[in-house]
This record gives sequence, C-alpha cells and structure tokens, in this order.
Amino acid sequence: MDDPRFRDDLYRGTACAYDEYRPSYPPALIDDLARRCGASGAGAMLDLACGTGHLSFALHGKFEHVWAVDLEPDMIALVRAKASAAGLTNLRADVSAADDLSVPARSLDLITLGNAFHRLPRRAVAANALRWLRPGGYLALAWGGSPWDGDSPWQRALVELMGHWRARAQAETRDQDRIPPGYDEARAAAPDLDVLAAAGFELVGRWEFAVRHDWTTDEIVGYLRSTSVLSPRALGPLAPEFEQDVRGELAGHAVGGRLPQQITFAYELARRPDGQALLAQGGDPLETPE
Ligand SMILES: C[S@@+](CC[C@H](N)C(=O)[O-])C[C@H]1O[C@@H](n2cnc3c(N)ncnc32)[C@H](O)[C@@H]1O
Repeated sequence: MDDPRFRDDLYRGTACAYDEYRPSYPPALIDDLARRCGASGAGAMLDLACGTGHLSFALHGKFEHVWAVDLEPDMIALVRAKASAAGLTNLRADVSAADDLSVPARSLDLITLGNAFHRLPRRAVAANALRWLRPGGYLALAWGGSPWDGDSPWQRALVELMGHWRARAQAETRDQDRIPPGYDEARAAAPDLDVLAAAGFELVGRWEFAVRHDWTTDEIVGYLRSTSVLSPRALGPLAPEFEQDVRGELAGHAVGGRLPQQITFAYELARRPDGQALLAQGGDPLETPE
C-alpha cells in the first residue's frame, strides 16, 4: 500500500510561529546523534523537510556543508534569513519536495528528517536517501513531543478542546483534507522503521531525551499556530475564537502562569550498509548511474 499524499500547502503561513514556539531539539540529542554518526566537522548533511531549520542550525558546526530543503517557500525564506543573520556560509537552503530532489549518489554523510518522515512518500524517500548516502552513512528520524503529550489535567483538557475545534473547522470551513484518508492505516501497516529496513537500511537504534519545559499560555497558542491542522490558515475565521477558548481553558490550569511538561525528544538511526556488508549480500544493488 503506497502512502497517501499530504497536500503541499499545509504549513503555509506557519514559519514564524514554527521558529518561535517549537522547542529546539535538546543539545544532548544533537551531540549524541553527531557522535554516533562520527561527525567531525567534515562531510555533508541534508536536512530534509527542514522547516525553519532546527536540525540544520543545531548541526551546522558538525559538518562542512549543510543543505536544508523544504517544499514550503516561507520556511526556506526564514532559514536563509537566519543563516545570513548568523553569517553562516556553509548552510544552503532550497525549496523542493523531498521526492523531487536531485542529489548525487554517495554524496552525503547524514540525512536528517525531523518530525517529518510520516508526511512524505516514505518508500520513495527511503530509496533515494539510501542512494544519496555514502556507504556507512546515516539517516536519522528525529521526533519532538507536543505540548499535549501527557496525562496532566491541562493536557487532557487541551486534547479535548483541540478535537472540538478540529471537528468544527471540518464542518464550517472548506479546508477539510489536511490529513489524507488512509494515513493511519498506511502507517500502521508499514511502520517507519519497516519502511527503512525494506529499502535496505540497517537499523541502528532509538534514543530518547526527556526535557522539562514550563509552557506559558502564549507559547502554547503560538505552538498551535505552527501546526498544520490548527494554524490560523487552517481555521480561517474561527481562529480568533479558538485562541480565546484555548487561553480561557489553560488559564484555569496554569500555576504561576506556567504549565509544566516533561517533553520526550527522540531519534531513530539507520545506516546505509558499508561496502563489505553489500559485498556479502552479492554486490551493491545501488551501483547504477544517477
Ligand atoms: C512538522 S514540520 C518539521 C520541520 C523540521 N524538520 C523540524 O524538525 O522542526 C514538517 C515540515 O515538512 C515539510 N514537508 C512536508 N511535506 C514535504 C515534502 N513532501 N517535501 C519536503 N518537505 C515537506 C513541511 O513544509 C514542514 O516544514
């Protein structure tokens, strides 16, 4: 079963909120990932579906070349502006869908996909990624938790309220196809790691990093603006009422203006088998001209 296709414009208008309100991946995760990949300041990485470049900027010092790619032009404009403001000369950013990208074979040491693999045509992207990596190169799926992940009363209240507003948006706006039919079934039938293994990756492991975060109500409203399903564009004229409702609900739960959460970040690491392993399997099946 192929992955159902997500619309291309789901993050339109979210870039500023995304950059400001999505918590960064913890430095411990970044350092651990860089160490396991053997990043030494040389080589090249590709941050695919990069958003505003959380992973690109966190890892830029660990590679000679960093390439950030996203299909949303607003995201790439912001990555370029941030790179320019920081004076980074080794970070290139381009607008492209992940499955349209052209990359020389065996040219990359690391490909990262942060909170994004599930949105892509996974089999095509995994097959391309394997070809783009040098033998022994790595692919990392990074994941960051959302404010509503957890069992606190404020999180349960937020989940209920989000469900109510998503249903209202579906009923009252024309913008109804933000999650394609068959998405849950396709991902359950072929979990991400199975897709990577079937493409020829060796699965290396998964590592989790928990970080305490004390949210303010403003930050949670900002985070919701950065989502594909409850952004101002997704909600249209309902957006102001939605935000007022969120603020009213959370105000009743905040203590000293704060809503605490233990956020779990994680990454899953896969590796393109090196030459020896490929020879043992009867040669390099990827050894074809690009
Ligand atoms: C949840 S954001 C993740 C952003 C970033 N990687 C991070 O870790 O914060 C998902 C991103 O995937 C991008 N995206 C979705 N489908 C894509 C595709 N087919 N090709 C490239 N980018 C895509 C969206 O534009 C959005 O910026």
